[in-house]
Amino acid sequence: MNPMPLGEMPCDQFLAEYWQKKPLLIRNALPNVSSPVSAEVLAGLACEEEIESRIVIQHQSEKDWELKHGPFKESDFSTLPDSNWTLLVQAVDHWNPEAAKFLEQFTFIPRWRIDDLMISYACDGGGVGPHYDNYDVFLVQTSGKRKWEIGGIYNEDAPLLENLPVSILSDFSATESWVLEPGDILYVPAGFAHNGIAEGNGCITCSVGFRAPSHSEILREYTDFIGENLSEAMRYEDPDLLAQKNTGEISSQTIEKIQRILQKYTEDKESISNWFGRYITSPKYSQESDAFTQESEKTCTLDDLKMHLDSGKYIFRNESSRFAFKANDNNFILFVDGENFDKASNLNPLIETLCANIKFSKQDITQTDKNLTLLLKLLQRGSLYLAEI
Ligand code: SIN
Ligand code: CO
Repeated sequence: MNPMPLGEMPCDQFLAEYWQKKPLLIRNALPNVSSPVSAEVLAGLACEEEIESRIVIQHQSEKDWELKHGPFKESDFSTLPDSNWTLLVQAVDHWNPEAAKFLEQFTFIPRWRIDDLMISYACDGGGVGPHYDNYDVFLVQTSGKRKWEIGGIYNEDAPLLENLPVSILSDFSATESWVLEPGDILYVPAGFAHNGIAEGNGCITCSVGFRAPSHSEILREYTDFIGENLSEAMRYEDPDLLAQKNTGEISSQTIEKIQRILQKYTEDKESISNWFGRYITSPKYSQESDAFTQESEKTCTLDDLKMHLDSGKYIFRNESSRFAFKANDNNFILFVDGENFDKASNLNPLIETLCANIKFSKQDITQTDKNLTLLLKLLQRGSLYLAEI
């Protein structure tokens, strides 16, 4: 596993005392850190059609915020004010291998819990204002300085400043504040208000954002998955029906029957695993996988694959692909980009390698027919690619 950016703190202590519980400032967590991308590269990414980006500008008054969505043109950057703005680019790890490598330092939390690496560049005074997020975040200062203030815990009932394009808490008051320098990390659990203000120009913050599906999503998505595969013939049945006093009444027995139908599907752990693995590995941006698949990989054969491995090429996970597995008895089920793959116990070591490493070579795998066939399938669909180191 990668060294953990938790300073002196053991991972178990972080999980027990801070994870999803309270904020933590870790000074010099990543000594000698450098930003995975420069301000210029970040601005370039913000000009790309497929990449989600925004610029937040705070004008004169405390209540005058402007939000612009990308893609931007080079001229958009030359018309920005001298201070009080920030550029934020989402999922930089999907497009930039250095950013993907950066994110791997945080895999002491299960990989499927990690959403993306957002990178912001701010000039003096720039920030997005006091707000809370529905997800946990590690805010890593990689260049310049930023003052971070932390406040209380909020949810969707929080009072916001009115008529603004950005969500800013109207009653934020800081309980603690720190100035972060390159290498420092602030961990902020979901719901905790926070406010970051750049001190001087050249402030780059990398936000390692996590994902936690809402109960609403879990219920809707799981029931859709189950419902799609059920026969129309499976219906409510009442061969034990008794005469009722009032024909309009829905009896308690009816509700119990409905509850038993619901329970039958929510107690089926195999279905839950099959659904959750697919759901949680579904691509963040649907258009990406195709955009990444090179023609050479689409048409790659088993012999080509063996030849590439013999010549020392590495197999890389597509930076935007999501991999996860679930152990079921002795077999692992592999989930990649919203699909599941055949299980067979002799694939288990390869599945472990695929899910724990962003790149690997011939030395890391056994070249059995089954292993090579699975690798080829993943290469042809663009979830893996071949490259020199
Ligand atoms: C930023 O980088 O300015 C915003 C990060 C955050 O508040 O989540
Ligand atoms: Co935030």
